Amino acid sequence: MKTNCVRITRFGGPEVLEPGQMDVAEPGQGEVLVRHTGIGVNFVDVYHRIGQLHGDGPVPPFVPGVQANGIVEAVGAGVDTVSPGDRVTHANVGLGSYVHHRLLPADRLIRIPDALDDDLVAASYLRGLTCHYLLKRLYVVKPGDVVLIHAAAGGVGQLMVQWAKRLGAVVIGTVGTDAKAEFVRGLGCDHPVVYTRENFVDRVKEITAGEGVPVVYDSVGADTFMGSLDCLRPMGIAINYGTASGQVAPFPLQRLHSKSLSVCRPTLRTWIASRSDLEKSSTEFFQLLADGALRIDIAAKLPLRDAAKAHEMLEGRTLSGAVLLAP
Ligand SMILES: NC(=O)c1ccc[n+]([C@@H]2O[C@H](COP(=O)([O-])OP(=O)(O)OC[C@H]3O[C@@H](n4cnc5c(N)ncnc54)[C@H](OP(=O)(O)O)[C@@H]3O)[C@@H](O)[C@H]2O)c1
Repeated sequence: MKTNCVRITRFGGPEVLEPGQMDVAEPGQGEVLVRHTGIGVNFVDVYHRIGQLHGDGPVPPFVPGVQANGIVEAVGAGVDTVSPGDRVTHANVGLGSYVHHRLLPADRLIRIPDALDDDLVAASYLRGLTCHYLLKRLYVVKPGDVVLIHAAAGGVGQLMVQWAKRLGAVVIGTVGTDAKAEFVRGLGCDHPVVYTRENFVDRVKEITAGEGVPVVYDSVGADTFMGSLDCLRPMGIAINYGTASGQVAPFPLQRLHSKSLSVCRPTLRTWIASRSDLEKSSTEFFQLLADGALRIDIAAKLPLRDAAKAHEMLEGRTLSGAVLLAP
């Protein structure tokens, strides 16, 4: 059958996202045909579109998108974990989510609990799994920890702020505007810092009485990472989990020596590679969503063919929330 899609035939600006059609086969052994109902637009889609990932990224032509929700339409041989009609979600099953219908491996699908709204999951699933490994596994946030979260009003950032507060942390959150500062304060951020006009390193030193923080969650990259190292206390860790402003330039390892610092450049893919990790993280995140302990603002839901507009919004730095595409 044919299905609608948005594809990229060359790297570039949002205009390279072109609506089109593609073939989808019948589900084979272990496969499931899913009709998407909501497609999450994540910042990694921008990296893929502009070719920022280089060696580790896709080469055009390709269909972008790493996350979506949908309804099971058909299952292949040997599939007994989901059935036609089930609501399911998936994240990081390779590229190809900007489509109406997609063939997916059954063992990477997670059923959406009845209590949860489709759009809420489409806006937050990949981001929530990311927060889970960042706050509970890579660095285990403890009550009383003062943590620094960059881009705190963004899609991942706002979940990070709320979840870190739940874990008992004191949160310093950087944001681009005063309006975003107010927004993250409303989410529980103790110390919003407007890093477009304030020196965030000075502010962190002031807030921590010169001590520094044990962990920095840095998704901005090029513009912030060296400053992030300066915010750490001895034996602290700087986690560069995103590169919204560009990749971090190489620096001498010796830079870490005097305070015994650690750095990490993680990806969600590895933290949910096993089925048990995927299930555990999903269950824990869904429970917090269902309890209302975490929320995410949905800034816009656009038709799939308007993917270019969705990318413009995400890159424009004006949003406090997520953008969705509706097939
Ligand atoms: N490694 C992983 O496992 C993993 C998984 C998921 C997401 N991520 C990363 O998490 C980050 C957040 O993802 P998201 O989809 O939720 O996006 P997002 O946070 O909603 O958007 C990115 C934010 O980065 C900030 N920013 C700073 N400098 C920027 C620049 N030069 N251009 C554009 N934005 C800039 C902006 O906030 P201000 O204007 O307030 O600065 C913007 O809102 C991304 O860096 C993404 O790559 C990593």
